[in-house]
Amino acid sequence: MEGERDKRGLMDIQEEDFDVVVRISREDDIAIARQMAKQLAQEAGFSLADVTKIATAVSELARNIYRYAQTGVIMIRKQYQETNNPTVQVVAVDRGPGIEDLDLALRRGYTTHERSLGIGLSGVKRLMDSFEIASKVGVGTTVVVEKRRRKF
Ligand SMILES: Nc1ncnc2c1ncn2[C@@H]1O[C@H](COP(=O)(O)OP(=O)(O)OP(=O)(O)O)[C@@H](O)[C@H]1O
Ligand SMILES: [Mg+2]
Repeated sequence: MEGERDKRGLMDIQEEDFDVVVRISREDDIAIARQMAKQLAQEAGFSLADVTKIATAVSELARNIYRYAQTGVIMIRKQYQETNNPTVQVVAVDRGPGIEDLDLALRRGYTTHERSLGIGLSGVKRLMDSFEIASKVGVGTTVVVEKRRRKF
């Protein structure tokens, strides 16, 4: 299945490796996840514009969990591979219904939601530097996104 291709790494995600773990089960948890992401990105020295992009991406992923899977988890961590160039990584995991057609779901403007106001998965992809998704119908969905701090 499309989403499973080369995604072995996504099976190996451990909550204890992350700085922040937010369980999503109520609508308020979306704002909590957004706030946690914002705080972490600020601490890591991201620009205000990039802090907002990361926070927006987290809020979209959390909203999808809440809407389509009801429950799931958002995990966020700072990664320091090189000095002065940290990355924020966000992982969204749920054991919801999964996505049948990933290509369609990632199409810009595609929504199954009436009067959607969000930027959706295609927007999340645009806001971040990297975007990976693995999804299986009846099993769940995992999204991994990263943003690198720009040098300034
Ligand atoms: N975690 C998920 N579990 C199951 N299906 C999902 C999940 N996330 C997204 N989807 C499916 O992928 C589609 C596209 O998601 P996307 O976030 O781009 O748009 P949306 O949620 O429909 O609208 P919005 O623009 O408000 O976010 C959704 O309509 C839904 O069918
Ligand atoms: Mg959405």
